[in-house]
Formats: sequence, C-alpha cells, structure tokens
Amino acid sequence: MTLRLAHTAALGPADLRHVRALLDGAFGGDFSDEDWEHGLGGVHALVHDGAGLAAHGAVVMRRVRHRGRWLRTGYVEAVAVRADVRRTGLGGRVTAALERVIDRAYDLGALCASDEGAPLYTARGWQRWPGRVHALSPDGIVRLPDEEGGVYLRPALAGPPDPAGELVFDWRDGDVV
Ligand SMILES: CC(C)(COP(=O)(O)OP(=O)(O)OC[C@H]1O[C@@H](n2cnc3c(N)ncnc32)[C@H](O)[C@@H]1OP(=O)(O)O)[C@@H](O)C(=O)NCCC(=O)NCCS
Repeated sequence: MTLRLAHTAALGPADLRHVRALLDGAFGGDFSDEDWEHGLGGVHALVHDGAGLAAHGAVVMRRVRHRGRWLRTGYVEAVAVRADVRRTGLGGRVTAALERVIDRAYDLGALCASDEGAPLYTARGWQRWPGRVHALSPDGIVRLPDEEGGVYLRPALAGPPDPAGELVFDWRDGDVV
C-alpha cells in the first residue's frame, strides 16, 4: 500500500471525487460542503490499496493566536479510513505523515477530533486542550464553548502551549474548529 503526499493543486478531479466519496461514506452523511472546503488548499496524505482509496487526511494552514502571537498552525482535517480496513493502522499512517508536515512547516498542530477519532490522536501523543476556545469572528473575538474539550494540539516549533493562555482561531464559514 502506497502513501502519497500531495498538495491539493496536484490532485486531479478524479482524485478529489474519490476523496469526497471516502469522506461522505466515513462520516455517514454528516460531511458538509463546508467541511469539504476546510480540507482543501493544503497537503493531503492518501493511501491506496487494491480496492482504491483506503485512507485520507489533510493539513491546511490556519492562524491561531496564543499568548499574543499568531502561530502558523497546521490544522488537520478530513481524516477518514474506509470502513473495511479500519483498525489496521491506516489512520495512524496518515496521521504520522501529516505530523511530519506539521513538525517541519508549522509552529503548532491542531485539530478538532470526532468521538471516534479522539483515541487515534491521544494514542499518538496529541494533547487535549483543557482551556477555553475562541475565534476571531467578523464581529470580534467570540468564545466557542461547544468546541471546548474537542480541540487537540501538537506542539511543533513554538513549544508547548500554555493552558493558562488563550487560543483564538481564525474565522471561516461552517464549523470554525
Ligand atoms: C478514526 C479513524 C480515522 C481511525 O482510523 P483507523 O485506521 O481505524 O486507525 P488505526 O488503525 O490507525 O488506529 C490506530 C490507533 O488509534 C486508536 N484507535 C483508533 N480507532 C479507535 C477506536 N475506534 N477505539 C479505540 N481506539 C482507537 C488505537 O490506539 C489504535 O491502535 P490499535 O488498533 O493498535 O489499538 C476511522 O475510524 C474513521 O475513518 N472513522 C470515521 C471518520 C472519523 O471519525 N474521522 C476522524 C475525524 S477527527
């Protein structure tokens, strides 16, 4: 099974259709057009097997303010493994490839885990953010209490985040984190 790392710009229309189909299936119809858009414009990790696309994840750049600095943040999106090959290590392989991108190119790694995804990330050392979560909305900074508890971080170049400090995500349509 080969793992391919590619920027969105290097993926053809058929590649993108296959990724979207994998995500629609994996999230059981709960994967919106905005969720799809959130995973574009960065680096994708794709694993293929004899049956086609088996696993996917992406890391895109966001800005997160922490202790007065807007950190260049590699944000993990759209991680999914085809149902028939789960618990065979593919989620881990995809995440490991995205972590290498984060560690070399970003100050910080971040993601919002689904209930199903959380064990994958904690097993790999991602740390649940215990503090408050904010975002810079068009009307100013707003708190996102519903997202608190679901955010996981991976310190990269910036060193470990301080739970006493704030976390302010840049804004976007759809789910902000
Ligand atoms: C979450 C998901 C990507 C995991 O993919 P996977 O290929 O099954 O994960 P792996 O086989 O690499 O698992 C690696 C480790 O993560 C942990 N883990 C993964 N899924 C787990 C689960 N459902 N329950 C408990 N631990 C789990 C385990 O430690 C596992 O190691 P082990 O199998 O040796 O015990 C997959 O279940 C999926 O596509 N779910 C639907 C979409 C989704 O929720 N995506 C995540 C968005 S944040």
